[in-house]
Amino acid sequence: MSKIRRYSIGTFMDTGAVISKLPKETGEIPYLKRIQRMELKKSDKEPQEEMVQRDEMVYHLSFQDRIYGLGENVRGINKRGWLYESNCTDDPNHTESKHSLYGAHNFFVVDGRETFGVFLDYPGKLILDMGYGQMDEIRIVPQDWNLDVYILEGGSILEIVKSFRKLIGRSYIPPKWAFGYGQSRWGYQSAAEIREVVKGYRENGIPLDAVYLDIDYMEGFKDFTIDKERFPDFPKFAEEMRKEHIHLVPIIDAGVKIEEGYEVYEEGKKNGYFCKDQEGKEFVGAVWPGKVHFPDVLNKEARKWFGQKYQGLLEQGIEGFWNDMNEPAIFYSEKNLEQVLKKIKSMKSRNMDMWEVFAFRDIVNGLANNPKDYSSFYHEIEGKKICHDKVHNLYGFGMTRAAGEAFEELEPEKRILLFSRASYIGMHRYGGVWMGDNQSWWSHLLLNLKMLPSLNMCGFLYTGADLGGFGSDVTEDLLLRWLALGIFTPLMRNHSALGTREQECYRFTQTEVFRNLIGIRYGLMPYLYSEYMKAALKDEMLFMPLAFVYPEDAHAREVEDQLLVGESIMIAPVYTQNAGGRYVYLPEPMKLVRLKDMEHIETEVLEQGHYYIEISLEEVVFFIRPGKIVPYTKAEQYVKEIPAEELRLMHFEAEGLEYELYQDDGFEKDYENPEHFKRLGVK
Ligand code: NOJ
Repeated sequence: MSKIRRYSIGTFMDTGAVISKLPKETGEIPYLKRIQRMELKKSDKEPQEEMVQRDEMVYHLSFQDRIYGLGENVRGINKRGWLYESNCTDDPNHTESKHSLYGAHNFFVVDGRETFGVFLDYPGKLILDMGYGQMDEIRIVPQDWNLDVYILEGGSILEIVKSFRKLIGRSYIPPKWAFGYGQSRWGYQSAAEIREVVKGYRENGIPLDAVYLDIDYMEGFKDFTIDKERFPDFPKFAEEMRKEHIHLVPIIDAGVKIEEGYEVYEEGKKNGYFCKDQEGKEFVGAVWPGKVHFPDVLNKEARKWFGQKYQGLLEQGIEGFWNDMNEPAIFYSEKNLEQVLKKIKSMKSRNMDMWEVFAFRDIVNGLANNPKDYSSFYHEIEGKKICHDKVHNLYGFGMTRAAGEAFEELEPEKRILLFSRASYIGMHRYGGVWMGDNQSWWSHLLLNLKMLPSLNMCGFLYTGADLGGFGSDVTEDLLLRWLALGIFTPLMRNHSALGTREQECYRFTQTEVFRNLIGIRYGLMPYLYSEYMKAALKDEMLFMPLAFVYPEDAHAREVEDQLLVGESIMIAPVYTQNAGGRYVYLPEPMKLVRLKDMEHIETEVLEQGHYYIEISLEEVVFFIRPGKIVPYTKAEQYVKEIPAEELRLMHFEAEGLEYELYQDDGFEKDYENPEHFKRLGVK
């Protein structure tokens, strides 16, 4: 175990990230030096330059240092060389040039000259310059100096991560059906359309466990409502789907529509549960339904109230939810829109030059997610009025916590599926995250892989990307290659945006290949579910970079496109269009496993070294580590059908060794029951 020390700067605010409160240390924070520097501030727009004082925490990096962590983010597994900003952001263009995505995950490990971990428990915007301003410096700059800094040291990276995970508490465990394949799309307009999707899958024999309902199921985009015309008799529909072994998973949005007579709005308003502006009036933003209020999910009573609202859908047969737009995303605020319209009206030129066009564009672009709006509304936290920008990164956490806490009360014995778009460390105890609005780009397949270990480090085990990509048009080969990675991610969901090419698997020509690939997920479920459960119960990582497992191996430390999945498997997915295979590095001898389906398995033993491995679109390839075992079974159409008995074993040099299998009913919460742990041996 690594040693953890907590240092408090300024006034501490309990964010809920940490479960065991450590005593505060006195004295200097190790590794991070707090310094003040004078800097020349230049601006393109203003001619004069001025000197400003910078107050920051700095760590001097040596040439060999690597930086891991920061959860959901752009760029590599090794985070060195870029400026990250911890600032939950609704931005659907996950390019390398961005500084933050939807999550704020302020945990990282430096490994090289010295090995240590840092967690910055800070709910506002935080600059994490990882060798960008200066290649040999980590620079940490919060907006104000009220934060807790945790320093973890002693032991390997994996030990540091494990100690951190103990500190922040056990990761969320979903029901077992949520490990099945799910189909989603923004735009499924009616029950009839969903029946067609299910039919498409079942008729083609492609496995399916869940269909996700996007905002289209609601009446006028109002949370907790169902459009009665397009979804008549919803409980009966949910029941009909359940008989087909399909779970419906509706979306819930952060903004509550302002509409007289709408129960959620009326109740929230009457009880003062919405965020207020400076004058104490409800803040008015806008999202899908037009003008909305945001429930103050950082206030205990309001959180409880909002959480209880999920009950209505639970009572109609729903067993899972996804929480969206909870950065929170704001299309515009009432106040800002007025100002923007006024400005545009006052623009008289009908022959705009470059500067005028730029200014015009900035005015319009400034409508959405405007920092000024985030600093113009307030939360009431334990009797204190706190400006949203100080606690911005806690909003998605608060919303998901509302649901999670309510489920504990409403369904104490049952696991409910829950995942969110925005998050902060601590939320991982209540739900998972999906990786938001990616694109149908090959580079996003690789980004998906790179985010997995970083998210695991921060406690988020239940995660996955929109397979096939959310925005832009998918191609059949991209979807096939992405599924070959998705087979290994706990959330395996194909989701796409309104207006993009339809990407349900049965719409493409090679339905048999889709059937086989997704079938492999079901066949490997005994292993994948066991590894997930053990990782959650033992505070371990499910996806590990090679650098964590083979720290002495210089090649392994460089690998950014292969991962270990649990104790036995290494994956190396193809992420390039038209490639017939890829280069793979084996840090030790391994057994290559090549599957077309669960009945046709070829294997080959390879020595340590570099290889070019051919992998066709119809195949899944992975590698078994020496002394390791992978239990598997037949491919099935849905999770409930997967047999618990008659498991088969793939293994490499594991004669006389055993595998710890975790098996439970997948619904109940008696996780520690010793009967769930079984041992499977190779003779
Ligand atoms: C944004 C989410 O990220 C996306 O998944 C969803 O389809 C749209 N909102 C519409 O609800």
